[in-house]
Amino acid sequence: MAVHNEAKIGEIAKTVLMPGDPMRAKYIAENFLEDYKLVNQVRGMLAFTGKYKGKEITVMASGMGMPSIGIYAHELYKIYDVDNIIRIGSCGGHVEKLKLLDVVLVDGVYTEGNFAKNLTGNECHFIKASNYLNKVIEDTAQEINQKYVKGNMACTECFDPYLDDPMSFTNRIPKEYEAMGSEMESFALFYTANHLGKNAACLLTVSDSLCFKEELTSEQRQLSMNDMIKLALEASIKL
Ligand code: HPA
Repeated sequence: MAVHNEAKIGEIAKTVLMPGDPMRAKYIAENFLEDYKLVNQVRGMLAFTGKYKGKEITVMASGMGMPSIGIYAHELYKIYDVDNIIRIGSCGGHVEKLKLLDVVLVDGVYTEGNFAKNLTGNECHFIKASNYLNKVIEDTAQEINQKYVKGNMACTECFDPYLDDPMSFTNRIPKEYEAMGSEMESFALFYTANHLGKNAACLLTVSDSLCFKEELTSEQRQLSMNDMIKLALEASIKL
């Protein structure tokens, strides 16, 4: 048991898939896992452990934003001795090359925020995903013919569509990082993993964009989510 997780030691697998939304964790368990069991429901942050093609996997929600995923990832790595966390979420695009519904594999992530300074006292604003996990995910994507765009993202504390002036935000991101878009959790996940000597990666689907105004149907969203979920699960069985 941990402060924010009632799972018993041993009830969480070595590899955890982390969507933001608890209902998505339930959806993944119900549609992709066998013999699954609900192992946490503290604060509604549902976690299910089951089997995918015979391999034990846990799917646990992270909630939204760096503080939320920072807490759950910390407990998973430190208390439950989890080795790998793959976040599976959504993002907004900042550049035209990133189309709605594209699957993104995050290489590195920039933040203006102070998560790193808060946790460890270090002034760190850019961090990379685990090379090992990204390599397994890229090899798997090739094998199952799943297209993806690999690149850097910005990790924000406000949802892009709600910003007063989105352009002043994107213009402040140092050009060297070539951020393709925004999401709100991966910096805290990667930094926590790095700090604790563990592995983390992040797959995203593009759900909105500063460049395109189209609205997606919920069916379109679900289908592209399914592609990303399958990629994460197929990669997980190789870990
Ligand atoms: N900004 C930040 N996080 C997000 C976005 C966005 O536009 N879309 C989905 N998650």
